Amino acid sequence: MSEPGPSTRVVRAGLPAPEQGEPFLPGPVFAAPFHLTGDPYTSPAAYTRYGNPTWARYEEAVGGLEDAEAILFSSGMAAAAALLLTNLKPGSVLAMDAGCYHGVRALTTAHLEPRGVEVRLAPPPGLAEAARGADLLWLESPSNPELEVYDLGALAGLGVTTVVDNTTAGPLLQRPLDLGAAYTLTSATKQLSGHADLMLGYVTTRDSQRMQALRDWRRTAGSIPGPFEVWLAHRSLPTLAVRLERMCDNALAVARLLAARDDVDGVRYPGLPSDPGHEVAQRQMDGYGSVLSFDLGSEQRAERFLAAARLVTDATSFGGVQTLAERRARWGGDAVPEGFIRLSAGLEDTADLLADVEQALGAAAS
Ligand SMILES: Cc1ncc(COP(=O)(O)O)c(C=O)c1O
Repeated sequence: MSEPGPSTRVVRAGLPAPEQGEPFLPGPVFAAPFHLTGDPYTSPAAYTRYGNPTWARYEEAVGGLEDAEAILFSSGMAAAAALLLTNLKPGSVLAMDAGCYHGVRALTTAHLEPRGVEVRLAPPPGLAEAARGADLLWLESPSNPELEVYDLGALAGLGVTTVVDNTTAGPLLQRPLDLGAAYTLTSATKQLSGHADLMLGYVTTRDSQRMQALRDWRRTAGSIPGPFEVWLAHRSLPTLAVRLERMCDNALAVARLLAARDDVDGVRYPGLPSDPGHEVAQRQMDGYGSVLSFDLGSEQRAERFLAAARLVTDATSFGGVQTLAERRARWGGDAVPEGFIRLSAGLEDTADLLADVEQALGAAAS
């Protein structure tokens, strides 16, 4: 049989072997301690901070999508902290994409630089230079919220241990480990869980020593997810491929609509053939994701657009079933214009979504 496709892979990912009378996906295991006699390290479970059967199933599922081992954390940021703190110490050098998620940049400023880690922030053209002699290279592609696309193979090939934050693409659209990255990080708060109702993050790697360091970190730092959140995420995994299909179609349709208007500037979506990242994205991705961005020129016009939209909810985050958008400058932290909007396409019917975006743009003009 040929390689199974994405839907085939996700519908049974991490499920136990069929057993008469048992459910397909066993329920969440709620326990702090487990019955334990003798050696805690050889017991199937001892104390949830050390491991939990509900995590193990989902880790097997998402790790399998990248032919790697996966480790869960309580959020994408907890996963980022684990990666940074297991790889860097005083005197280490971190080279980082200046446009990467602002929370990760804030973590390095608040907690790494004061502890003697040199952080070199660089825009896309300077990243390879900044990585020279660095201990860790951190990048995000497509980046959030500016949708810059990096050539992952070229950067991971520089010989520096490379982390790719794969959150905007996810494991079905992009496999950074195949392109030479040492780790991928995914906030499963987004498309992986997909219903905007939980927070979760994970790291994948194919290196068992790196994985052991992360497991030791999680156990000692206690940045563990709750079993119910993990179970909910696992329950959502079988629909990931079909959700993504609609989200990518809707994102492309909205991007095309926006790019064709002369009252909208700076539309970025790697699926548009005119996008500066399209060629590289076409080579390294199996789809272009749900997130796009554009500029309505002023705070007032962007806010009028968001207020007038009925099928585009004003909220942060992305990758969920509802279409969301926000004026990104309201948070601070990103170098974007006041009228810059990030939009995450959901699962609405395409025609309805386009009609709504069009009417909201009309309302924003007045
Ligand atoms: C690219 C990226 N990485 C990491 C994170 C952090 O994930 P979480 O919000 O699950 O902590 C986010 C959150 O928006 C993100 O967009």
